[in-house]
Amino acid sequence: LKIFSGNANPDLARKICEHLSINLGNAYVGRFPDGEIDLKVNEDVRGADVFLVQPTCAPVNESLTELLIFIDCLKRASAARITAVLPYYGYARKDRKDEGRVPITAKLVANLITTAGADRVLTLDLHAAQIQGFFDIPVDHLLAFPVMMKYFEQLKTEDLVVVTPDVGGIKLARNYSKGLGVKMAIVDKRRVGPEETEVGFIIGEVANKNVIMIDDLIATGGSIAQAAYVLKEKGAREIYVGATHPVFCGSAIEKLSAAPIKEIVITDSIPLSEKARATGDKFKVLSI
Ligand code: R5P
Repeated sequence: LKIFSGNANPDLARKICEHLSINLGNAYVGRFPDGEIDLKVNEDVRGADVFLVQPTCAPVNESLTELLIFIDCLKRASAARITAVLPYYGYARKDRKDEGRVPITAKLVANLITTAGADRVLTLDLHAAQIQGFFDIPVDHLLAFPVMMKYFEQLKTEDLVVVTPDVGGIKLARNYSKGLGVKMAIVDKRRVGPEETEVGFIIGEVANKNVIMIDDLIATGGSIAQAAYVLKEKGAREIYVGATHPVFCGSAIEKLSAAPIKEIVITDSIPLSEKARATGDKFKVLSI
C-alpha cells in the first residue's frame, strides 16, 4: 500500500501516513515556467495499491488538474489499483440542470477522474449523496458524523436543538438530531445571489435553546451567518456550527467572525486558511 499527495492537502496525507505508520510516497508535483503541472513519482509503484490524497479544494482548478495528471502518471507507472482520495469533492454543487444552458460539473468531474484512470474513489460528506451514481467505479462515501458527534456529545444539554440552515440539509441534520436525541428545526433559506441569502421562516422551536447548526460546507459564509442572526432574533441562546468542509471563500471569515456564533467546528478535509487561523479559537478543527 502506498500513499501519495498532491499540493491540495499534504498535511492530511501526512496525518494519514502517521496513523498507518508508513512513509508518504515520494513524488514531485511542481510547475513548468508556463504554469503547466510538472509531476514525477520518485519511487516504484508497479503492482502497488495506491491511494492519492488530493481534495479538489481551492485553488480548485489547480487541485483538479493535479489530481488528473497524478492519476495518469500512476496508471502509466503500472500501479495495480488507484484510489482517488477526495475528502472534499469540488464542483459538486452543480449536480443537475436547474435552469437551461448550464453544465453538470459534478458529473463532468466524475467522468474526468474515471477517464484519467482511477479505479476507486474515497470521499467524505458529498454535497449530494447521489453523486456516487455519477461514477461507474466504486465510491466509498464516508461521513464526518462520528468525528463530529464525539465533539458535540460533550456540548449536549437538555435545551439543545439541531438546526439545518437549508431545507436541502434536512437529512444530514436529522442524523445529528437522532444521534444526540434532541429535536430539530429548519431554516427556510432562499439564495438571492452567489453571496447573499434570505431567510423566510423557521420551522421548529429555537427560543431559549442552545443550537447546533449543521451543514456540509461553508463557502462564502452567507448561509450560516444569515441563519445565525435570524436564530438570535428568534431567541436562540448559544449557537454552535458543525460543517464538514471549510471552503471559506470571499469574505467568509469576516462574516463568520462577526456573526453571533460561539464556535464553528470544521474538519481538515480542506486546509484551514491563514486568515481563519489568525482569528483565534472561533474555529475548531477536528481531524478526519
Ligand atoms: C447548500 O446547499 C450548502 O449545503 C451550503 O449551505 C452552501 O453551499 C453554503 O454556501 P455559502 O457559505 O456560500 O452560503
